[in-house]
Amino acid sequence: MILYINCCVRKASRTDRLARRVLEQLDGEVTELKLYEENLRPLDSETLERRTALIEQGDCGDRMFDYAKQFASAETIVIAAPYWDLSFPAPLKTYFEIIYVTGIVSEYTETGMPSGLCRADRLIYVTTAGGPYDPTYSYGYVKSLAQDFFGIPNVFLVKAEMLDIVGNDAEDILRNAMDNIVLRPYRFYGWETASVKDRNGLTPRDYYDLLSDIWSAETCAPRMRGEWSPSDKTRGQCSITAFLLQDLYGGKVLGVPLKDGNYHCFNAVGDCVFDLTSEQFGDSMLDYTGCPEQSREVHFAKEEKHLRYELLKEKLSEAVAKKLSQ
Ligand SMILES: Cc1cc2nc3c(=O)[nH]c(=O)nc-3n(C[C@H](O)[C@H](O)[C@H](O)COP(=O)(O)O)c2cc1C
Repeated sequence: MILYINCCVRKASRTDRLARRVLEQLDGEVTELKLYEENLRPLDSETLERRTALIEQGDCGDRMFDYAKQFASAETIVIAAPYWDLSFPAPLKTYFEIIYVTGIVSEYTETGMPSGLCRADRLIYVTTAGGPYDPTYSYGYVKSLAQDFFGIPNVFLVKAEMLDIVGNDAEDILRNAMDNIVLRPYRFYGWETASVKDRNGLTPRDYYDLLSDIWSAETCAPRMRGEWSPSDKTRGQCSITAFLLQDLYGGKVLGVPLKDGNYHCFNAVGDCVFDLTSEQFGDSMLDYTGCPEQSREVHFAKEEKHLRYELLKEKLSEAVAKKLSQ
């Protein structure tokens, strides 16, 4: 079951329209919860006392726990909420208060750490904003709740912003957002904003998908070749990949200085910064700020590297031709 938590109040809500496009792309029966019609009430003293007592007795049969049970049993969760006052409308906060029941959506381990009990493996947060969107107090908050407390590992943001700025074509922005919905769990740095398109209409995310089947030990830097494996496919592929992406999008190839004196290359196309090969560093976060520009001439002065770049380019061209012909 897909649970659609609809916190949109306006009749012609753009957030709801965007969310419905998301729902079209998901398989499964949708149960919609219109928060503005549910008459949700913040936890007051009496309700909180009763709830605490029932939880302590392990008695979760009361109707007040129905929302929590529904949330915990959903396979996919879609939340739609417009960007209000740097956050979201109050009924959504009330809803979280109501569903956050220890023993239903979350529990505490022996070491006192929260551990999620929810069935969903994916939560999609959909929002639209009148001006620039800052995810800190809306998507950022929901993502923390979902991943750290509810046990939902994959959390995505689908958004359209700057809709109310004078001179902007809100319909055009919304249409563009609808055409660029990403519901697949990418892990490379900058994937959320990597929606710039090349002359084939492809984004860096599309190229990541194509390169995932192309990167190999053969295209890996020789000094790392022994460590390359399909599960560590981006290892040793950074500079040739970044220069290849520069061929497609322009912009700059920048390099994060590494301890061994080498640079880890990534792309900056205007404000769009992405690193298709960041996964080789696992959880260690690189510092992408203030990185020096990398020169194609310096990198390709090594004949060996230039040949690997040509090989990757040839294979990618074939893959692009195949994709475009489908
Ligand atoms: C009460 C209220 C508060 C808002 N606060 C913000 C805000 O802090 N920042 C912003 O960019 N837009 C803000 N907006 C504009 C909405 O985010 C924007 O119009 C959004 O697209 C509305 O979504 P909807 O069409 O689904 O109702 C606010 C709108 C309302 C009604």
